[in-house]
Amino acid sequence: MSEPEVVHYEVVDGVAVITVDNPPVNSLGPGVREGIIAGVEKAEADANVKAMVLIGAGRSFIAGADIRQFGKPRAVLKKSSVDVLDDATKPTVAAIHGFALGGGLEHALGCHYRIAVLSAKVGLPEVLIGILPGGGGTQRLPRLIGPKAAMELIVSGRHVPAEEAKTLGIVDAITPGKDLRAEAIAYAKSVADKRPLSRIRDRKADASADPGMFEAMRKSIARRARNQKAPYHCIACVEAAVKQPFDEGIKTERRLFGELENADEARALRYAFFAEREVAKIPGAPKDFKPGKIKTAAVIGAGTMGGGIAMSFADYGIPVKVLDASRDVLDKGLQRIKDNYAISVKRGSLKQEQMDKRMALITPVERYEDIGDADVVIEAVFERIDVKKDVFAKLDAVMKPGALLLSNSSAIDTDIMAGVTKRPQDVAGAHFFAPANVMKLYEVVKGTKTSVETILRTMQVGRDIGKIAGVAGTCDGFLANRSRAPFGNEMQLMLEEGALPEQIDKVMVDFGYPIGPFAVSDLSGLDISYDTRKRRAAADPNFRKLLIPDRLVEMGRKGQKTGAGWFRYEKGDRTPHPDEVVKSVIADVARELGIAQRTFTDDEILKRLLFASVNEACKILEEGKALRASDIDAMWLHGFGFPRYRGGLMFWADGIGVKEVYRQIEEWHQRYGARWKPSALLKELADSGTPLREAKPKIAMFG
Ligand code: 3HC
Repeated sequence: MSEPEVVHYEVVDGVAVITVDNPPVNSLGPGVREGIIAGVEKAEADANVKAMVLIGAGRSFIAGADIRQFGKPRAVLKKSSVDVLDDATKPTVAAIHGFALGGGLEHALGCHYRIAVLSAKVGLPEVLIGILPGGGGTQRLPRLIGPKAAMELIVSGRHVPAEEAKTLGIVDAITPGKDLRAEAIAYAKSVADKRPLSRIRDRKADASADPGMFEAMRKSIARRARNQKAPYHCIACVEAAVKQPFDEGIKTERRLFGELENADEARALRYAFFAEREVAKIPGAPKDFKPGKIKTAAVIGAGTMGGGIAMSFADYGIPVKVLDASRDVLDKGLQRIKDNYAISVKRGSLKQEQMDKRMALITPVERYEDIGDADVVIEAVFERIDVKKDVFAKLDAVMKPGALLLSNSSAIDTDIMAGVTKRPQDVAGAHFFAPANVMKLYEVVKGTKTSVETILRTMQVGRDIGKIAGVAGTCDGFLANRSRAPFGNEMQLMLEEGALPEQIDKVMVDFGYPIGPFAVSDLSGLDISYDTRKRRAAADPNFRKLLIPDRLVEMGRKGQKTGAGWFRYEKGDRTPHPDEVVKSVIADVARELGIAQRTFTDDEILKRLLFASVNEACKILEEGKALRASDIDAMWLHGFGFPRYRGGLMFWADGIGVKEVYRQIEEWHQRYGARWKPSALLKELADSGTPLREAKPKIAMFG
C-alpha cells in the first residue's frame, strides 16, 4: 500500500521517524491516522528499528481532529491509531512543538514517552467545541496525572504550557528544541531497550483521597455550564476512568462522545470556531500585503474609553501616549488606569511588577507634536462631530506619513473625520466596546475612501492586542450596535405592553446571557442612552420616545451608580432587586399612552428581542455594510455576551428556520407597523429557503 502523503516515514540510526505533515496545523484530516498506523506497522516489521518517534512538520505537533469532519460520515478504522501506538512492541516517543491539542495530545498519550520544547502547549480543548476527548484522552490523562488535575484540564479545555505540563507529569522531558527531530531520535535511542514498556492504560486513576471531587466540580460549573451537556459528560468520563477498567472506560467515552457530536451545542460551537476565523478575512485582499506589527501607539482622550484603550496597548507591551487638553484631565485619567490595574493586583490576576511595567508604558502628553511619530493613533474624545473634526485636522497636521488615523466613535460616520484630512485612505474606525481593555470585540469601520491596506493594518492592530477584529461599513451604529439597537428598543416597548424588567432579564439569562439586558443597562448607566434619545428626538420629530427609561433617569435612577435604576440595589451589593417604583412608572406610562396590558410568554419575549435584530442584520447585509452573516455572529459572541453554545444570532435563528422567522416578523409588521418591516433580503432568503447564516451582502464592500 502506498504511503499517504500527509505522513512521512524514514528510519534514522535504528529509529523510525513518523512525521505528520498536514498544514497548516497538522489536524488529523483524511489519511493522517492511516499514515500513522502504516508507519508503526512498518517500524514493527523492520528488525533494524528499535524505537519510534512521532513528530509534526511545520509549526505544530498535531492540533487535533479535523473539526470540519465532525458531523460527516468518516472512515472507521479497525483499530485506532492511538491504540496502534500504545500497543507497539517497540518504544514510541511523541516529540511535541507548537500545539498538541485534542486528538493530538491523545496520540501523544498513546505513545510510551513524551518530550516537548519549552514553547509547546498541550491540552484537551474538545469541550470548547461541545464534545469530549474521544480518542482515549479522558481515560489516559487521569491515569497519568490523577483525576483531579485531568478533570480540571478537560473541563476547562485550557492550553497548558510545556513547563506546567512537565510539572503535572504530562510530558517526561523538556528538550532544548534547537533540533527537535535530532533530540527526539537521541531520546528514543536512550529508551530503546527499556522494558516493560510504559503504557498509561496499565495505570490506575485514584480518587480515594477526594471522592467528592466529581460532585464538587459539577457544582462549581453549574452557572457557567448551564444549558450545556459537554462539560458534564467530560466529568462523567473522568469518573469512569476512576471507576471502570480501561476498556470499559473507553466504551463509556465513546458512548458519551456519540451523544455530543451532532447535538445542537456541538454544531453551534463548531460554527462559532470557524466564524471567528472567517471574520478576519477580507475578500479580495492583496495576497502579498502582510501588515507589520505596530511599535508605538497614541490615544486622544484620557476619559474612561481612552484609558481602557491605552490599557489594551500596555497589556500587550506596546508603548502608548495618551493625549488630553490639560494636565488635570490627564492626571485623573492616569489615576483611573492605575486604580483599574490595582484592582487586578488585589484580586491576584496581575502581579505588582506587571502593573508597574504596564504603567511605565503609558505616557501622558499635552501637545499633538508629541505623538507625531506613533504608528497608530486612536481618537476617543466626546461624540460630537465638531470636536472629532478638530481632532482629525490636528492629527493630519502632525502624524507621520503612513500612520493609521483611527476613530473610536460608536456612531459618527467615518467619512466625516476622513473628510477633514488630506489622507482619507489612512482613516478608519476602530470601535472598542466598554470596558475597552476587557471586551474582545473590536469593530473596524471602513469609510468610503479607506484603503484595503488600512483595513488590513487596522485589523492587525486589533489582533496584536488580543481582540477579535471584524469589519463594518460606515453607517449609523455600524454593524454591531446597529444590529443590537432593535433588541434594545423592543425590550423597552414590551414594558409598555405589560412585561416586567425582571421577567425579560430572566428569559435572557435562562437563554444563556451572563446577565439580563436591564441589569446591563443598570451597570452601564441609563443616562447614556437618555442623552442619545434626547439628541435624536431633537433632530427627528417622528422619533419614538421611550417614556419609561426617560422618567427613571429624570427621577435620578441612573442605575447601579445611583443605587437604583431598573432595579433597586442595597449598599455594597450588586444584586438587582425588583422594585415597586419601577412597576408603577411602567403602569403610569402605559395608562397615559393608552396601551392595554397583557402577559407575555418567555418564548415571545425571546423572539421579540432577537428577531428584531435578525431583521436589522439582514438590512445591514442588504446594504453591504457587513462582509458576511457569520461576522454578525462573531461580533455578537464577543461584544454582547450572546451564548456561544447557541452559535450566534443568525445561527440561532436558523435553528428556528428562516421561513418561520420571516413569517413572525411579517406578522409583527402588520401588528406594530413600520419598525418591523421585513428586510427584502430576509424575504428572499425565506422564499428560497436559504439559511440566514449563508446570507451574502447585496453590495460588495471592497471593489
Ligand atoms: N480542524 C480543522 N481546521 C483547523 C483545526 C482543526 N482542528 N485547527 C485549526 N484549523 C484551521 C483554522 O480553521 C484555520 O484555517 P483558515 O486559515 O482557513 O482560517 C487554520 O487551521 C489556522 O488556524 P488558526 O488561525 O486558529 O491558527 P492559530 O495559530 O491562531 O491557532 C490553534 C492554532 C491553537 C491550533 C487553533 O487553530 C486551535 O485552537 N485549533 C483547534 C484545536 C482543537 O480544538 N483541537 C481539538 C479538535 S477535536 C478533537 O481532537 C477530537 C478528538 O478528541 C477525537
